[in-house]
Amino acid sequence: MRYRTHSIRPPPIMKLAESAKRFIGSANFLDLGQGLPGHIPPKEVLNALSERISHPTTHRYTHDQGQLELREELALYLRQTSQIDVDPQRELTITAGGNQAFAGTVLTIIEQDDEVIMPSPYYFNSVMAVQLAGGIVKQVPVNSRYQPDPEAIEAAITPQTKCVLLVSPNNPTGAVYDQSVVDKIVDICLQNDLFLISDEAYARLVFNDSKHYSPRRRRDAHDNIITLGSFSKDFGISGWRVGYTIGSTEFMDEFLKVQDTISICAPTAGQLIVLEALKSDQTWVEEELRRLSLLREFAYLRIREIDAFDTFETKGTFYLFPRVKECTSTRDIVLAILQSTETLVLPGGIFGEAGEDHLRISIGPLTPDAVDEAFNRLSDFFAHYKSE
Ligand SMILES: Cc1ncc(COP(=O)(O)O)c(C=O)c1O
Repeated sequence: MRYRTHSIRPPPIMKLAESAKRFIGSANFLDLGQGLPGHIPPKEVLNALSERISHPTTHRYTHDQGQLELREELALYLRQTSQIDVDPQRELTITAGGNQAFAGTVLTIIEQDDEVIMPSPYYFNSVMAVQLAGGIVKQVPVNSRYQPDPEAIEAAITPQTKCVLLVSPNNPTGAVYDQSVVDKIVDICLQNDLFLISDEAYARLVFNDSKHYSPRRRRDAHDNIITLGSFSKDFGISGWRVGYTIGSTEFMDEFLKVQDTISICAPTAGQLIVLEALKSDQTWVEEELRRLSLLREFAYLRIREIDAFDTFETKGTFYLFPRVKECTSTRDIVLAILQSTETLVLPGGIFGEAGEDHLRISIGPLTPDAVDEAFNRLSDFFAHYKSE
């Protein structure tokens, strides 16, 4: 084969964006497809960054692991927000986003035909990365509350299994995994000497008194757990491409070989904006969380009015993931919604087999009026769709 990427499916969002292209310019177009929040950092953070812009070091590489001052600040932040301990010198690397953190991790640990167990629905970029590394994805469906099923995960283990992936808070379901469930999966990984990759890109986006539980809180499992994070969602800076990887010193020595090959270091200006964001009082992050909390409440009120949906309210992220009743696949429905209402939502099937009859609706950057309008349109569409 000429290209080793040939068997990998193209990014599904790119294909959908192509279908949506002729609607995007329209004033009437509503985008509930993009996985973004609504905020950007405030002036104080941007001003502090602009003061650094003329300094020569801003234009140069940093250490492969990222600037030490940033790593130290991030370690403090992670202690406060996720109650995890990280040695900034030896266990932490700043990456060019969470996606690079994940791809670098699988390139570090996955050998040809190694299996990766993923609760399904999953974040599709994770599948692409595992396949690029020569690995095989084993999908294990989540339960009706979108929680992973430890028994089913254990049953899926074979001699080829190398690791289990958990994403909490979850894209696409919004589920925040229960501590007891996560702990059972940590135990399974320890008993079978598997890695557990924990993607925590949405760590702060938890609502209604729900708590994010990072498996790294299990000190007995630090050698097996690789924790990934992102500043794209919680801090609203997806364009600056900054995330991080945390693992044992043994893992980090290996990971840095991949990091140096692929990007050397995360973008220096991106590292600096994160440093300023972490050093700020972060009231702007709190404000965004309050805004999103109210927006989610409103969206859940509206979505429950649509009889065609079976909706389970999850406690994290800005995604809603209703099941469409009496439907086996939502792929055609998404195109019909786009064509008849100029509204883009995502078909659940792009997130794995278990999502096939669902829709992913992202409300992150929308105003309450836009959410209201979107649900009016969906309501009208499904009233008509049902009667067909
Ligand atoms: C679960 C999950 N992990 C990682 C990422 C990628 O984040 P980044 O922008 O930091 O690469 C995303 C983006 O949507 C995501 O949903």
